[in-house]
Amino acid sequence: MIKIAPSLLSADFVRLEKEINSIQKAGADILHLDVMDGHFVPNLTFGLPIIKQIKDITQIPVDVHLMVTNPNVYLETLGKWKIDYVSFHQEAEAHIHRQLKVLQKHGVKAGIALNPATPVETIFPVIAELDFVLIMSVNPGFGGQSFIPLVYDKIEKLRKLADQVNPELEIEVDGGVNNINAPKLISKGSDILVAGSFVFGSDDYKKQIEILKK
Ligand code: DX5
Ligand code: ZN
Repeated sequence: MIKIAPSLLSADFVRLEKEINSIQKAGADILHLDVMDGHFVPNLTFGLPIIKQIKDITQIPVDVHLMVTNPNVYLETLGKWKIDYVSFHQEAEAHIHRQLKVLQKHGVKAGIALNPATPVETIFPVIAELDFVLIMSVNPGFGGQSFIPLVYDKIEKLRKLADQVNPELEIEVDGGVNNINAPKLISKGSDILVAGSFVFGSDDYKKQIEILKK
């Protein structure tokens, strides 16, 4: 069963609590939080204090996507707070295996995020150790960008290997997800679809989530 993870990046930031309540009521499976540091990506969002406040008022699993240059400084804290899913970028971290363990010792699902141009093979050595992989289908930094179709092949390759060595591995796709690409993303083996503008850009969040699930 596909899980839909609306990205709060496209929500109304002056009414965050209201937006979180609405998206939960609309049937979101996971709440996706985009952390940007203005360095790894050319945009700035929010950090630990806001993540904690959001976690405290959210009833569905929270998924923190770290688009930052030094993810290691956040991992222990996110682990202690029992954030449900945390991913950091392969391009930003030299000690992937060590950092996965920091998250997993707290029972947090640990994931690696891959930019569109980063080959999926770069994480094959640690695939058995991962809880999930986040495949970026836009260049990270902004909501509302166009989907990059080269990710279909990456998902297919990853699913094939994961089926052999780590069948529980979840594949999350993030960026430009909509009603047109969702069916193919699901058929290639995606488990979690992140959607920002497709969901929050409409007045009817429930309808948009249902469209993606179909
Ligand atoms: C982009 C973020 C995404 C973004 C998705 O850097 O990681 O999570 O919010 O937004 P849409 O669905 O509008 O591309
Ligand atoms: Zn994201």
